[in-house]
Parts: sequence; structure tokens; C-alpha cells
Amino acid sequence: MFNFGGIKFFEMQEFGTPITVEKAPQSKIDQVDFNQLGFGQIFTDHMMISDYKDGAWSIPRIVPYQNISLPPSARVFHYGQAVFEGMKAYRDDRGDAWLFRPEENFKRINRSCERLCMPAFDQAYFMDGLSALLKLEQDWIKPGANNSLYIRPFVIATQAGVAANPATEYSFIIICSPVNAYFAGEVRVKIAEHYSRAAKGGFGYAKAAGNYAGQFYPTKLAHEEGFQQVVWTDAATHEYIEEAGTMNIFVRIGDQLITGPTSDSILDGVTRKSLIDMAKASGVDIVVRPIKVQEVLDAYQNGTLKELFGAGTAAVVSPIKGFGYQEQKYELQDQPDSYAELFKQKLTDLQRNLAPDPFGWRVKAY
Ligand code: COI
Repeated sequence: MFNFGGIKFFEMQEFGTPITVEKAPQSKIDQVDFNQLGFGQIFTDHMMISDYKDGAWSIPRIVPYQNISLPPSARVFHYGQAVFEGMKAYRDDRGDAWLFRPEENFKRINRSCERLCMPAFDQAYFMDGLSALLKLEQDWIKPGANNSLYIRPFVIATQAGVAANPATEYSFIIICSPVNAYFAGEVRVKIAEHYSRAAKGGFGYAKAAGNYAGQFYPTKLAHEEGFQQVVWTDAATHEYIEEAGTMNIFVRIGDQLITGPTSDSILDGVTRKSLIDMAKASGVDIVVRPIKVQEVLDAYQNGTLKELFGAGTAAVVSPIKGFGYQEQKYELQDQPDSYAELFKQKLTDLQRNLAPDPFGWRVKAY
């Protein structure tokens, strides 16, 4: 422990990376009702930061959660040079805390960075910085099926100047938010006919901030019609289903589960690929192939469309109760042998250490 200008710092020695920690003078945790969190409203006491300058990332440091100060000309404000990730930490009944496939998020944030001409981040800094932060924030990871700590790593271009070219300076920051369910109620989706999320050759596969901002307006229109999310279709023809707002989408026709292949316009979701592997391991007939909107409509008409559900870190596995297409609204019947319920249970049991992990996906959080 050392004292600098009245602020107490210490170094976390147990990680390979020598991370310095400036502790928040007081925790906010006692003011938080962990049963009334909603999603992403409250943030923990600390955050991790690493800055990129002169071609290198600084060793991550942990500081009290606070505002950041940037020049108004910073590239992030003008050109949206910003990418992010979504992860969760879970507390099991024995008191251990777990992450789910964190190396997938690490790899994906670097793929996103590459597409937006941002520098790759160092794996040891990511894993050690995250573990050090979670160790410090461990009291915020609560047990119980409805609780998790949502982790939001993000990278922004901080360099001053409005020249439209990639910045040479960036910040990598991790903030954490205790959360309950992402959706407060039932989910209904509108299948896009006019607006698009991503096009071939674009950056839909990246977790880039702009991919989400561009969805807000069409999603607002869908809300006005009573839908929570838009199901994006391919930009060229609007004939094929791509993904559903903040989730990848699965369709069950008869007893076959179908999800679209990832592409440059579809996010390579960690939950999506985990469900595919779990379905295969459970002997469920799972097919990864393009899905036509017309096929879904036909299956609805002939009674074989049994389920639609979304999958994502924030949304977990969210059954879709109905959908809209053109001027028509379609309602789905509850399924007694729902795949959404089955895989939600299997996934969350694995994430929360309530079931064995034959895939080796569960990783100690610190
Ligand atoms: C996630 O599932 O982590 C997401 O990216 C959803 C988020 C946009 C709320």
C-alpha cells in the first residue's frame, strides 16, 4: 500500500500483470436493492482502465468508478470509433464466482477492434485486469437465478482532432453492473422489411457501438406497434432472417432447431454458439443454415412453427411470444417441451456451477 497525494493505492500481486488499485473511499453497495435492479442502471464501485498511446497499451489500473474527461474533438464523438463486449459473472451456492467463456469475448473485442482500425488489446491485461476488478468487486456478484454481474468492456478513440481517420490514442475500460433480467416482460418481435442493421461487407459482425445506435430508430417504431425487438433481415433482399436486436435468433420448426450462419452481417454470439454445441450434445436436431422469412410464415400457417427464441449474454435465452410481419401479427403457443426453456436451464445451470461442464466453458472469476 502506498499513499500518493492523500489517495491510497496498492498493487494486486497475485496476477501476472502488476495492476495498481486506487480504492473508492466508500462502497455504494449498501444502497442497492439487488432484487430491483433492472438492467444496466447501477454500476459497481470501481472500473478498470488501460490507455493506448505511442503504440502500446498501459498496464491496467483500477480506479473508483468515475466520469471520464475527454476533449470534445475526440474521435469517438465524431466517428463512433467505439467497440464493446458483454459478459457476466455468476455466484454459485458454494460462494465461488464464475465467468462463462471469457476468452471468446477477448477474441471478439479484438476482431471488432480490427474492423474499426483500433489496436488489439493484450490477453494477459484483459484476463488479469478483469480478474483483479472482479476480486475487488466480489460482493457485487450475488447468488440466485435472477442475479448476475454484467461486465461491459469497451474501447473508445480518445485522440483529439476531427480528421476522419483512425485515432492513435484509445482507452480500454471495464465497468460492471449488477443486473436482473434484461426483458421485464414477454418478448414480441417485428420482422424488418425496410430498415437494415448491417450489409454484406459492412461491420455487422463487430460489436461496434454504431451497430446498436442504428437500431434505435427502427426499434422505436416497432415499440410503438407493441414489439420489443426488431428481427433484422438481410439488407439486400429482406428475405432471410439475420438476428434479433440484441440477440441471435433460433427457430424451431417441428422438432428441428435452426439458426442462421454467422457472416459479416451477423454477430458471432457466445450464447448462440454455446446453444448449438449444447443442442448437438443433447441429441437435438440442430441445423445452421440461412432461414427464409417465408419459411417461418409457412411453418406458422401449417402449424409446425413451434418456437422462436433469442439468445445473448444480456438476454440469456428469451422465448419470443409473437411476431409481426407486414401488417400481420402472429402469436405462438406455449410449448410443453420448450427448447427455449430446456436450453435456458442447461445453460444457466452450467454458468452457475449447478451442472457439470463437459465443454470446459466455466472459468473462475478471480
Ligand atoms: C449483450 O448481450 O451483452 C449485448 O450486447 C446486449 C447489450 C447491447 C445490452
